[in-house]
Amino acid sequence: MQYSLILAALSAASVTAQKGDWAASAAKASQSLQGLSLQQKAGIVTGTGWMQGPCVGNTGEAQSIGFRSLCLQDGPLGVRYAGSVTAFPPAIQAASTWDVELIKQRAVGMGEEARALGVNVLLGPSAGPLGKIPQGGRNWEGFGADPYLQGVGMYETIVGIQESGVQACAKHYIGNEQEYRRSELSANIDDRTVHEMYLWPFADSVRANVASVMCSYNKLDSVYACENDEYLNQILKTELDFPGFVLSDWGAQHTTDGSAKGGLDMTMPGDNFGDNQFLWGNNLVNAVNSGQVQQSRVDDMVSRILTSWYYTGQDSGFPNVGFNSWNGNGGPNVQGNHKEVARAVARDGIVLLKNTNNALPLNKPESIAIIGSHAFDNPQGPNACVDRGCNTGPLGMGWGSGTVDYPYLIAPYDAIKQQADADGTRVTQADSDNFSHGGTAARAAETAIVFITADSGEEYITVEGNAGDRNNLNAWHTGNELVAAVAEGNQNTIVVVHSVGQILLESFIELDNVVAVVWAGLPGQESGNALVDVLYGKTAPSGKLPYTIGKRAEDHGVSIVRGDDNFSEGLFVDYRHYDKQGIEPRFEFGFGLSYTTFDYSGLTATYSDKSPADNVAAPGGSASLYETVATVTATITNSGDVAAAEVAQLYLGLPSSAPETPAKQLRGFQKVHLEPGQSATVQFPLRRKDLSYWDAQGKNWVIPSGAFAVHVGASSRDIRLTGSMA
Ligand code: BGC
Repeated sequence: MQYSLILAALSAASVTAQKGDWAASAAKASQSLQGLSLQQKAGIVTGTGWMQGPCVGNTGEAQSIGFRSLCLQDGPLGVRYAGSVTAFPPAIQAASTWDVELIKQRAVGMGEEARALGVNVLLGPSAGPLGKIPQGGRNWEGFGADPYLQGVGMYETIVGIQESGVQACAKHYIGNEQEYRRSELSANIDDRTVHEMYLWPFADSVRANVASVMCSYNKLDSVYACENDEYLNQILKTELDFPGFVLSDWGAQHTTDGSAKGGLDMTMPGDNFGDNQFLWGNNLVNAVNSGQVQQSRVDDMVSRILTSWYYTGQDSGFPNVGFNSWNGNGGPNVQGNHKEVARAVARDGIVLLKNTNNALPLNKPESIAIIGSHAFDNPQGPNACVDRGCNTGPLGMGWGSGTVDYPYLIAPYDAIKQQADADGTRVTQADSDNFSHGGTAARAAETAIVFITADSGEEYITVEGNAGDRNNLNAWHTGNELVAAVAEGNQNTIVVVHSVGQILLESFIELDNVVAVVWAGLPGQESGNALVDVLYGKTAPSGKLPYTIGKRAEDHGVSIVRGDDNFSEGLFVDYRHYDKQGIEPRFEFGFGLSYTTFDYSGLTATYSDKSPADNVAAPGGSASLYETVATVTATITNSGDVAAAEVAQLYLGLPSSAPETPAKQLRGFQKVHLEPGQSATVQFPLRRKDLSYWDAQGKNWVIPSGAFAVHVGASSRDIRLTGSMA
């Protein structure tokens, strides 16, 4: 007792010295390493086995150094399998806000809840998939189909989570773009494409000091990601100078010595989902004793795990695990006031796609019909299906490990009804997707609001024939036909879409009777409240699409791959592909309407510091890559008559001296809130990396000489100001 008190006091005293300091944390880790036996080391790097501990992942402990079993728990939108947590909107909705502060605050909330429940490692955020394939089942867990936007989302989220001393986990590294054959296919990505697309957000993650990275299920150039020397040792740990640890996705480890040599530092869940087969544990001890795996490699694994633990200050005062994933003990209510940020993200991520003659905002209509099953509570409750693996009732998140149990889910119908009652609006309803019911309800009201969805998730659950990835890009439950029936009966039809990603809107988007289309995305628990805020103009819509909505599925140029994936589209993903091929999208990346209008003026572009990047290693790659060398500014004016926010976007074109590169690439954005008539200057600082391409031969970032095209606009195609800088 006395002894442990002294130990606790000692570690409390030393914590300030380590926390937030990689070098000091590494020094402390190597000191602690001295006191550990090989058996203890093997325990720290090996999960205890599936469901052997309160969390989805649990490590061994080492009491001699005060190291308790680590709790690793999903996921990217909050704490999974807990009883009373906030169901934040998924990352795709956070990305749709394009609001850096909101993205960060969402993560602060997630970190606080994870800490309060004793979660050491929260298994998120996710930048893999990047979302190159619209049908990809898990795109909604990340921040949209652009590496720069993903990078900002990852950075802010990691900083936000780790503020509470919870370790974030950047996942799934790397090339895991689809669910179909995710554990068999090889992603073969050329070096330039890796650096400029898929690695980009992971570099930002390391730069944000992420404590851990999860290697993915797939192979890379025919070698499993979790034993891939090139991707783990060379790129992640050397080029990006990642000081933390690599943990396997659940069951993504395939060999004892191969994974050790390839750069894996922790295996999860330890066994292969309850089969009691441990590739590490005693097998790692034996491999060291027989000389197959070097002791120094095991020491490095443990050092990295301890370094992240010290870095986040978890060696002192970190709460015990306060819930259990498996036995119904959900733990205390840790929601605090996080429903406010959850609502703000849900609301500001809503994208207004169509609004004929200012049909929205609603102004006390005489009567409204609310149509479609997804507007109404699931009578079985919002958590009726494990890991949200069914599509009944309001859709607030996709399905799979990246979900949480809702504390509540505000159905659109309930929130609209409340507002309608206050306004004296008569409400009729059709709480099914039956066309004739929908048509009848629509005919009986002044305004009809019809709800459609599309869902996707992780491959271990199949929902309505979709094994994770979506089978197609259509609205589910014959949503198109439902909209047609409603529009036939009502001249003021408003379509609300809750979806994991792009769907085809062609069957109704141009109908005169469809006066508004509201892309409400994946709103989490605050669905109805967020929607009412926008429908009624309490807040003007300010979300922008984090991907392109095409007119035909084929227009995206990619689809679920059946064999290996050679990533032959290279850099030409999403809007980069549409621009290159000259294909007209329905709604382009970055698009979103408001209730006001914005003028753009006064473009300036200065490129002052032309010195090249140096090669001094630092987390994320050479620190000089992240120094600001150019700045673009513009003035945005709210030229309409309601207060609103605009997301001004900067796209760069590289000089012609660079090898073939997309004509425009997102390299900055800023959201500004403006009163009517008010103006503000937006600033886009450009880092060396933002002006560079990856030279695969020279293995370096190169800033091409010549003039850069500078485009500032309201979307990737609605460019308002163009200039150049050299
Ligand atoms: C998923 C990971 C998740 C893990 C633990 C895996 O199937 O791919 O994203 O963190 O399970 O639940």
